[in-house]
Amino acid sequence: MAGYAMTAFDELLPRGTAIVEAELGACWETGLWPEEEPHIARAIDQRRREFTAGRNCARRALAVLRVAPAAIGVGPAGEPLFPPGVSGSITHTGQYCAAAAIASEDIASIGIDADTRRPLPGGAADVILRPEEQQTLTSAAPFAGKLVFCIKEAFYKAYFQRAARYLDFQDAHVTLMLSERRFEIRVVGEYAAAWSRERVFEGRYAMDDARIYAAVALMHRP
Ligand SMILES: CC(C)(COP(=O)(O)OP(=O)(O)OC[C@H]1O[C@@H](n2cnc3c(N)ncnc32)[C@H](O)[C@@H]1OP(=O)(O)O)[C@@H](O)C(=O)NCCC(=O)NCCS
Repeated sequence: MAGYAMTAFDELLPRGTAIVEAELGACWETGLWPEEEPHIARAIDQRRREFTAGRNCARRALAVLRVAPAAIGVGPAGEPLFPPGVSGSITHTGQYCAAAAIASEDIASIGIDADTRRPLPGGAADVILRPEEQQTLTSAAPFAGKLVFCIKEAFYKAYFQRAARYLDFQDAHVTLMLSERRFEIRVVGEYAAAWSRERVFEGRYAMDDARIYAAVALMHRP
Protein backbone atom coordinates (compact mmCIF):
# COMPACT_ATOMS: atom_id res chain seq x y z
CA MET A 1 0.00 0.00 0.00
CA ALA A 2 1.78 3.11 -1.16
CA GLY A 3 0.78 6.49 0.20
CA TYR A 4 -0.40 8.44 -2.81
CA ALA A 5 2.15 7.45 -5.43
CA MET A 6 4.78 4.81 -6.07
CA THR A 7 7.70 5.15 -3.69
CA ALA A 8 11.21 3.74 -3.58
CA PHE A 9 10.19 1.60 -0.59
CA ASP A 10 7.25 -0.09 -2.34
CA GLU A 11 7.81 -3.87 -2.45
CA LEU A 12 10.36 -3.65 0.39
CA LEU A 13 7.90 -3.89 3.28
CA PRO A 14 4.95 -6.17 4.09
CA ARG A 15 1.60 -5.69 2.43
CA GLY A 16 -0.43 -3.15 4.35
CA THR A 17 2.48 -0.81 5.05
CA ALA A 18 1.74 2.83 4.25
CA ILE A 19 4.78 4.55 2.76
CA VAL A 20 4.91 8.26 2.02
CA GLU A 21 7.74 10.23 0.46
CA ALA A 22 8.07 13.96 0.98
CA GLU A 23 7.31 16.19 -1.94
CA LEU A 24 9.50 19.20 -2.52
CA GLY A 25 8.03 22.38 -1.07
CA ALA A 26 5.82 23.23 1.87
CA CYS A 27 6.03 19.76 3.38
CA TRP A 28 9.57 20.66 4.53
CA GLU A 29 8.57 24.04 5.93
CA THR A 30 5.34 23.83 7.92
CA GLY A 31 3.02 21.37 9.56
CA LEU A 32 4.66 20.50 12.88
CA TRP A 33 2.26 20.05 15.75
CA PRO A 34 2.84 22.16 18.90
CA GLU A 35 3.90 19.06 20.85
CA GLU A 36 6.60 18.41 18.24
CA GLU A 37 8.06 21.92 18.18
CA PRO A 38 10.13 21.63 21.41
CA HIS A 39 12.11 18.73 19.94
CA ILE A 40 13.45 20.98 17.23
CA ALA A 41 13.44 24.37 18.92
CA ARG A 42 17.20 24.93 18.82
CA ALA A 43 17.97 23.04 15.63
CA ILE A 44 19.70 24.46 12.58
CA ASP A 45 17.58 25.02 9.48
CA GLN A 46 18.34 21.77 7.63
CA ARG A 47 17.55 19.71 10.74
CA ARG A 48 14.27 21.56 11.22
CA ARG A 49 13.38 20.94 7.58
CA GLU A 50 14.06 17.20 7.67
CA PHE A 51 12.29 16.77 11.02
CA THR A 52 9.27 18.64 9.65
CA ALA A 53 9.17 16.59 6.45
CA GLY A 54 9.43 13.37 8.46
CA ARG A 55 6.51 14.31 10.73
CA ASN A 56 4.39 15.35 7.74
CA CYS A 57 5.15 12.08 5.95
CA ALA A 58 4.41 10.07 9.10
CA ARG A 59 1.05 11.78 9.55
CA ARG A 60 0.16 11.17 5.91
CA ALA A 61 1.08 7.52 6.42
CA LEU A 62 -1.29 7.40 9.40
CA ALA A 63 -4.01 8.86 7.19
CA VAL A 64 -3.42 6.15 4.59
CA LEU A 65 -3.89 3.61 7.41
CA ARG A 66 -7.05 5.48 8.49
CA VAL A 67 -5.49 6.10 11.90
CA ALA A 68 -6.43 9.37 13.58
CA PRO A 69 -3.78 12.09 13.15
CA ALA A 70 -1.43 12.35 16.10
CA ALA A 71 1.74 14.07 17.22
CA ILE A 72 4.77 11.89 16.49
CA GLY A 73 6.87 12.30 19.62
CA VAL A 74 10.53 11.58 20.17
CA GLY A 75 11.70 8.80 22.49
CA PRO A 76 14.78 8.95 24.70
CA ALA A 77 17.06 7.55 22.01
CA GLY A 78 15.59 9.69 19.24
CA GLU A 79 13.12 7.09 18.05
CA PRO A 80 9.82 8.34 16.59
CA LEU A 81 6.81 7.60 18.81
CA PHE A 82 3.89 6.48 16.69
CA PRO A 83 0.39 6.06 18.16
CA PRO A 84 -0.40 2.80 20.01
CA GLY A 85 -0.95 -0.10 17.65
CA VAL A 86 1.14 1.47 14.88
CA SER A 87 4.77 0.74 14.10
CA GLY A 88 6.61 3.28 12.01
CA SER A 89 9.95 4.54 10.82
CA ILE A 90 11.37 7.71 9.29
CA THR A 91 14.42 8.38 7.12
CA HIS A 92 15.88 11.45 5.44
CA THR A 93 18.97 12.15 3.41
CA GLY A 94 19.60 15.42 1.62
CA GLN A 95 16.43 16.42 -0.18
CA TYR A 96 14.80 13.00 0.28
CA CYS A 97 12.54 11.98 3.16
CA ALA A 98 10.15 9.06 3.69
CA ALA A 99 8.06 7.56 6.46
CA ALA A 100 6.50 4.12 6.70
CA ALA A 101 3.80 2.91 9.08
CA ILE A 102 1.85 -0.27 9.61
CA ALA A 103 -0.84 -1.41 12.01
CA SER A 104 -0.55 -5.17 12.27
CA GLU A 105 -0.73 -7.65 15.12
CA ASP A 106 1.93 -9.78 13.41
CA ILE A 107 4.57 -7.11 13.05
CA ALA A 108 6.50 -5.88 16.07
CA SER A 109 8.37 -3.06 14.39
CA ILE A 110 9.67 -1.74 11.08
CA GLY A 111 12.76 0.19 10.08
CA ILE A 112 13.63 2.07 6.89
CA ASP A 113 16.78 3.81 5.80
CA ALA A 114 17.80 5.73 2.67
CA ASP A 115 21.30 6.91 1.88
CA THR A 116 23.21 8.38 -1.02
CA ARG A 117 24.54 5.92 -3.59
CA ARG A 118 28.16 6.72 -2.94
CA PRO A 119 31.00 4.65 -1.52
CA LEU A 120 31.58 4.67 2.21
CA PRO A 121 34.01 7.40 3.22
CA GLY A 122 37.59 6.30 3.73
CA GLY A 123 38.13 4.34 6.93
CA ALA A 124 34.41 3.80 7.55
CA ALA A 125 34.44 0.19 6.36
CA ASP A 126 36.41 -0.89 9.44
CA VAL A 127 33.72 0.59 11.68
CA ILE A 128 30.66 -0.55 9.74
CA LEU A 129 31.65 -3.97 8.45
CA ARG A 130 32.63 -7.02 10.45
CA PRO A 131 35.90 -8.60 9.23
CA GLU A 132 34.08 -11.46 7.49
CA GLU A 133 31.73 -8.96 5.82
CA GLN A 134 34.71 -7.04 4.50
CA GLN A 135 36.06 -10.23 2.95
CA THR A 136 32.85 -11.36 1.29
CA LEU A 137 30.88 -8.22 0.55
CA THR A 138 33.11 -5.44 -0.58
CA SER A 139 33.77 -6.96 -4.00
CA ALA A 140 30.23 -8.40 -4.30
CA ALA A 141 28.51 -5.34 -5.72
CA PRO A 142 29.12 -1.68 -6.41
CA PHE A 143 28.51 0.29 -3.25
CA ALA A 144 28.20 -2.92 -1.19
CA GLY A 145 29.79 -1.27 1.83
CA LYS A 146 27.29 1.59 1.73
CA LEU A 147 24.48 -0.88 1.16
CA VAL A 148 25.41 -2.80 4.31
CA PHE A 149 25.59 0.48 6.23
CA CYS A 150 22.09 1.35 5.06
CA ILE A 151 20.81 -2.15 5.92
CA LYS A 152 22.28 -2.01 9.43
CA GLU A 153 20.72 1.38 10.12
CA ALA A 154 17.30 0.20 8.91
CA PHE A 155 17.64 -2.91 11.05
CA TYR A 156 18.73 -0.89 14.08
CA LYS A 157 15.64 1.32 13.81
CA ALA A 158 13.36 -1.72 13.87
CA TYR A 159 15.42 -3.56 16.49
CA PHE A 160 15.59 -0.62 18.86
CA GLN A 161 11.83 -0.19 18.87
CA ARG A 162 11.45 -3.81 19.89
CA ALA A 163 14.48 -4.28 22.16
CA ALA A 164 15.08 -0.74 23.49
CA ARG A 165 18.80 -1.31 23.34
CA TYR A 166 21.68 0.08 21.35
CA LEU A 167 23.49 -2.07 18.82
CA ASP A 168 26.90 -1.32 17.41
CA PHE A 169 27.58 -1.91 13.72
CA GLN A 170 29.83 -4.81 14.74
CA ASP A 171 26.88 -6.43 16.59
CA ALA A 172 25.12 -7.42 13.37
CA HIS A 173 26.15 -9.64 10.48
CA VAL A 174 24.62 -9.12 7.02
CA THR A 175 24.37 -11.66 4.21
CA LEU A 176 23.34 -10.24 0.83
CA MET A 177 21.16 -12.13 -1.66
CA LEU A 178 22.07 -9.89 -4.56
CA SER A 179 19.99 -11.52 -7.29
CA GLU A 180 16.83 -11.16 -5.19
CA ARG A 181 17.72 -7.81 -3.65
CA ARG A 182 17.18 -9.37 -0.23
CA PHE A 183 19.36 -9.70 2.82
CA GLU A 184 19.58 -11.68 6.01
CA ILE A 185 20.84 -10.20 9.23
CA ARG A 186 21.87 -11.85 12.48
CA VAL A 187 22.54 -10.18 15.79
CA VAL A 188 25.81 -11.39 17.23
CA GLY A 189 27.70 -10.61 20.41
CA GLU A 190 26.84 -10.12 24.02
CA TYR A 191 24.37 -7.28 23.50
CA ALA A 192 21.82 -9.34 21.62
CA ALA A 193 18.44 -9.39 23.34
CA ALA A 194 17.49 -12.95 24.33
CA TRP A 195 14.63 -13.13 21.81
CA SER A 196 16.94 -12.14 18.98
CA ARG A 197 19.69 -14.70 19.53
CA GLU A 198 19.87 -17.53 17.00
CA ARG A 199 17.32 -15.75 14.79
CA VAL A 200 17.75 -14.78 11.18
CA PHE A 201 15.94 -11.57 10.24
CA GLU A 202 15.17 -10.68 6.65
CA GLY A 203 14.80 -7.51 4.69
CA ARG A 204 14.84 -6.07 1.22
CA TYR A 205 16.71 -3.28 -0.51
CA ALA A 206 16.54 -1.20 -3.69
CA MET A 207 18.78 1.24 -5.52
CA ASP A 208 18.25 3.99 -8.03
CA ASP A 209 20.73 6.40 -9.57
CA ALA A 210 20.79 8.62 -6.50
CA ARG A 211 20.16 6.46 -3.46
CA ILE A 212 20.11 3.11 -1.68
CA TYR A 213 16.98 2.08 0.26
CA ALA A 214 16.74 -0.69 2.88
CA ALA A 215 13.80 -1.91 4.92
CA VAL A 216 13.22 -4.47 7.66
CA ALA A 217 10.05 -5.70 9.36
CA LEU A 218 10.42 -7.66 12.59
CA MET A 219 7.66 -10.19 13.21
CA HIS A 220 6.52 -10.93 16.75
CA ARG A 221 7.46 -14.57 16.14
CA PRO A 222 9.11 -16.31 13.19
C1 LIG B 1 19.56 6.40 14.64
C2 LIG B 1 20.27 6.22 13.31
C3 LIG B 1 20.10 4.77 12.87
C4 LIG B 1 19.61 7.16 12.28
O1 LIG B 1 20.08 6.89 10.98
P1 LIG B 1 20.63 8.05 10.02
O2 LIG B 1 21.02 7.42 8.72
O3 LIG B 1 21.65 8.83 10.77
O4 LIG B 1 19.44 9.03 9.75
P2 LIG B 1 18.04 8.82 9.01
O5 LIG B 1 17.66 10.12 8.46
O6 LIG B 1 18.00 7.66 8.09
O7 LIG B 1 17.07 8.47 10.21
C5 LIG B 1 16.79 9.44 11.17
C6 LIG B 1 15.51 9.03 11.85
O8 LIG B 1 15.74 7.80 12.53
C7 LIG B 1 14.80 7.72 13.59
N1 LIG B 1 15.49 7.27 14.77
C8 LIG B 1 16.41 7.93 15.50
N2 LIG B 1 16.82 7.16 16.53
C9 LIG B 1 16.13 5.99 16.44
C10 LIG B 1 16.12 4.81 17.22
N3 LIG B 1 16.87 4.66 18.31
N4 LIG B 1 15.28 3.82 16.85
C11 LIG B 1 14.49 3.95 15.76
N5 LIG B 1 14.46 5.05 14.97
C12 LIG B 1 15.29 6.06 15.33
C13 LIG B 1 14.19 9.14 13.77
O9 LIG B 1 12.88 9.11 13.25
C14 LIG B 1 15.08 9.99 12.92
O10 LIG B 1 14.46 11.08 12.29
P3 LIG B 1 13.82 12.28 13.13
O11 LIG B 1 14.79 12.59 14.24
O12 LIG B 1 13.66 13.39 12.16
O13 LIG B 1 12.53 11.74 13.66
C15 LIG B 1 21.80 6.55 13.39
O14 LIG B 1 21.98 7.93 13.60
C16 LIG B 1 22.52 5.83 14.51
O15 LIG B 1 22.51 6.25 15.66
N6 LIG B 1 23.18 4.70 14.17
C17 LIG B 1 24.00 3.99 15.12
C18 LIG B 1 23.34 2.70 15.52
C19 LIG B 1 23.28 1.74 14.38
O16 LIG B 1 22.83 2.07 13.31
N7 LIG B 1 23.73 0.52 14.61
C20 LIG B 1 23.68 -0.51 13.64
C21 LIG B 1 23.49 -1.79 14.40
S1 LIG B 1 23.09 -3.11 13.33
